[in-house]
Amino acid sequence: MSKKLLLKNAHIEGIRYFETYRKHGGYEAAEKALKMSTDEVLEEVKVSGLRGRGGAGFPTGMKWSFLAKPEGVPRHLVVNADESEPGTFKDRYLMEFLPHLLIEGMLISSYCLGSNVSYIYIRGEYSWIPDILEEAIEEAKAAGFLGKNILGTGYDLEIYVQRGAGAYICGEETALLESLEGRRGNPRLKPPFPAVKGLWERPTVVNNVESIAAVVPIIEIGGAEYAKIGVGRSTGTKLISACGNINKPGVYEIDMTITVEEFIYSDEYCGGIPNGKKLKACIPGGSSVPIVPANLLLKTINGEPRYMNYESLADGGFATGTMMGSGGFIVLDEDQCVVNHTMTLARFYNHESCGQCTPCREGTGWMYKILKKIEKGEGKMEDIDLLWDIQRKIEGNTICPLGDAAAWPVAAAIRHFRDEFEWHVNNPELCLTQNYGIANY
Ligand code: NAI
Repeated sequence: MSKKLLLKNAHIEGIRYFETYRKHGGYEAAEKALKMSTDEVLEEVKVSGLRGRGGAGFPTGMKWSFLAKPEGVPRHLVVNADESEPGTFKDRYLMEFLPHLLIEGMLISSYCLGSNVSYIYIRGEYSWIPDILEEAIEEAKAAGFLGKNILGTGYDLEIYVQRGAGAYICGEETALLESLEGRRGNPRLKPPFPAVKGLWERPTVVNNVESIAAVVPIIEIGGAEYAKIGVGRSTGTKLISACGNINKPGVYEIDMTITVEEFIYSDEYCGGIPNGKKLKACIPGGSSVPIVPANLLLKTINGEPRYMNYESLADGGFATGTMMGSGGFIVLDEDQCVVNHTMTLARFYNHESCGQCTPCREGTGWMYKILKKIEKGEGKMEDIDLLWDIQRKIEGNTICPLGDAAAWPVAAAIRHFRDEFEWHVNNPELCLTQNYGIANY
């Protein structure tokens, strides 16, 4: 049974509201943190080994310690709630059902970072959630946990919710900051990192919803205890949003010691694949991370079981591994067509490219067109090599990682499922008549 830290009270009726949240220990971690020095809070987060839960896995404590502190310049915490990665919906769950966990995490984190005005930037499509968050902010304020002189400590904090307008790119932290400042969400070059020059050129920490929520249990149980959960550099618990061909789609909290096989087949999590179908492949970290075929998903190249953690999923690099990413776990059964799936993703990235960098603007459209051709049975063998060539020319050549995110799924699909691409080229008549003929493959 996995240890629950974030979702331990999620089943309690009314936990969304301050009164119930407080009755079950809510804001006790904040009270504890506000009695500590900011350095002590930072030390707990560092010791916990918490890594950014948005996808990059960058150590949170280290990011916080990079925050510049020039005299007289305000600093900000910005929570990235622009969760838009296809397959990823764990932040939505936290904000919808446990909004006070996020607000409490923001209070502790803002106090530690010295932010008196903090923001939640939420994706436009989550249209019903800002009201939930704003209600929680009002409740916390009425109870003295936000506003002026919180709990008599002299510390002031205001939290504002900013709605995005539906652009995936605004989840990239610098595009998010541009958007928050009222401009078109075009990513900025890094460095300088937001920790040095962020919102309105002020030092800013941008953290994912789940990362900030995790600060609450870290203070509650202490960084050292938190670090004992999990394994190696994959400490604590991780929320996984599971979808695709599984019996029990949903959001699960895992402690990163379980195997991928257990996660897919155990009744505690995904509950196996419907209709007794076989597993074909999985994308374990949201659509941007490489797809992995079943044989490499259930064990590593060395025959070790593959575990649901940062290191094990990445084992072997992109040739045989993938990434933990944002924890958007997408399962494909034996009937799914990888070419069709890759084309769908290519369409998404083409639509969402901001157009700033030529390789991404032109390359994503080109990849989509070629994939569409191959998928319809109108492709040639050399199109597969062209596709490979284009993705190589996008990766690493753009300002932000959207280019990489568009390239990696294509690269992994060709690397592991080239025979499926070739089948499409060799069987044009079946592509058109038999739902791409994968059942007959
Ligand atoms: P990144 O590796 O560039 O940065 C990670 C974080 O560490 C950033 O906040 C960055 O400012 C900070 N950082 C790194 N080096 C630093 C330094 N020297 N000084 C100060 N701060 C430093 O990755 P990025 O672009 O933030 O995230 C990419 C990931 O986002 C992808 O791997 C993907 O998994 C994920 N993603 C998640 C989505 C979602 O909906 N959750 C959507 C799309 C992508």
